[in-house]
Amino acid sequence: MGLKSLISYGFLILPAAVTIGVLLGLQTYRESQGLSGPFTSNKVETNTYCQLAFGITPATGGQQYTLNPNQWGVTEDTTGSALCMNVTTNANGSYPTNITAPAWSITWQYPQGSDDQPVHAFPNIQIDRSDIFPIEINSVSAVNFAAEWAYGAGETLPTTTDVTALTAAGLNANVAIDMFIDSDPNAATSTVDAKYEVMIWLADFGAATQPIGLADGAVKTADINGTTFSLYYGTNSLSQKVLTWVATGTVQNIDTDFGPLLQGLTGIGGPATSDYLGYMAFGSETLYSSTNVTLYVPSLSMEVVPK
Ligand SMILES: *[C@@H]1O[C@H](CO)[C@@H](O)[C@H](O)[C@H]1NC(C)=O
Ligand SMILES: *[C@@H]1O[C@H](CO)[C@@H](O)[C@H](O)[C@H]1NC(C)=O
Ligand SMILES: *[C@@H]1O[C@H](CO)[C@@H](O)[C@H](O)[C@H]1NC(C)=O
Ligand SMILES: *[C@@H]1O[C@H](CO)[C@@H](O)[C@H](O)[C@H]1NC(C)=O
Ligand SMILES: *[C@@H]1O[C@H](CO)[C@@H](O)[C@H](O)[C@H]1NC(C)=O
Repeated sequence: MGLKSLISYGFLILPAAVTIGVLLGLQTYRESQGLSGPFTSNKVETNTYCQLAFGITPATGGQQYTLNPNQWGVTEDTTGSALCMNVTTNANGSYPTNITAPAWSITWQYPQGSDDQPVHAFPNIQIDRSDIFPIEINSVSAVNFAAEWAYGAGETLPTTTDVTALTAAGLNANVAIDMFIDSDPNAATSTVDAKYEVMIWLADFGAATQPIGLADGAVKTADINGTTFSLYYGTNSLSQKVLTWVATGTVQNIDTDFGPLLQGLTGIGGPATSDYLGYMAFGSETLYSSTNVTLYVPSLSMEVVPK
């Protein structure tokens, strides 16, 4: 299979964040709010979610996040498929900072999918802030993002990303931030109705994991926090304009402001700064892997800061 043919069908079908929750009405699990007082528990709990789509919104005194296994490309007859998401929460709802996310991991394997639908899932964590989104790009002062993560072969929590072991496992997946933008503030909050999808790939594993527009070459580069990101541009089958910033190499630990990557896109067919950012999430687009692999995100905080 040539490079060109992979490019021609890779990621052409649906946006990364499309969720069967959007289509079916997302079931949501909200942990009960812990009451402050003598009975507040400081227990740390890990729960496992293997559903195809399920919203997990842990109680917190700070910024709300919603996690979702989001196996949108899995059908009941997809054999050899499995993905479970573990979410570790503090029962007292208190975390190191008011934007610290719960720790989470995914353990999964999928067979190679069809050429026109290579992606099985986008397990992710989304910022759940209707007081912030939708926000005009002009009004954003920073898109702060800090994460530590590792992808490993097997079912245990990895501490480092061993690319040789992941190649042996046949991993094809990325690690990415996903954002949606539209001139209409309501459409901007929808992963299927928004006109623009802007992604930031911190890593991509496997030959099939390719951004839309790769064949056309990078249209722009930007240096963020010591890493060069190359921008690819194309259109998916929902006619959304997809702009993908791909890091040179694998960016495992980063603490930076990604705001500059939303600017200056108008001239290359991207959103205007008067358009609205309506959605931001971080996760992994999972294509296939012949044995189980585990992505672990022990430390994460994301914040869209208004001016
Ligand atoms: C909440 O629970 C976590 C985990 O046990 C603990 O580290 C933290 O100190 C607790 N915070 C408060 C305010 O009790
Ligand atoms: C977090 O704390 C800062 C400083 O007190 C405050 O400005 C901000 O609004 C808080 N954010 C959330 C989500 O609670
Ligand atoms: C592989 O991962 C799936 C999904 O997390 C899990 O159900 C299964 O038990 C794992 N297989 C092994 C051999 O641990
Ligand atoms: C996920 O949680 C289950 C228990 O709910 C545990 O058996 C499994 O080892 C955990 N997976 C990882 C990768 O820690
Ligand atoms: C990356 O950002 C962090 C946090 O803002 C900062 O401490 C560090 O110096 C930056 N690194 C580079 C190479 O710009």
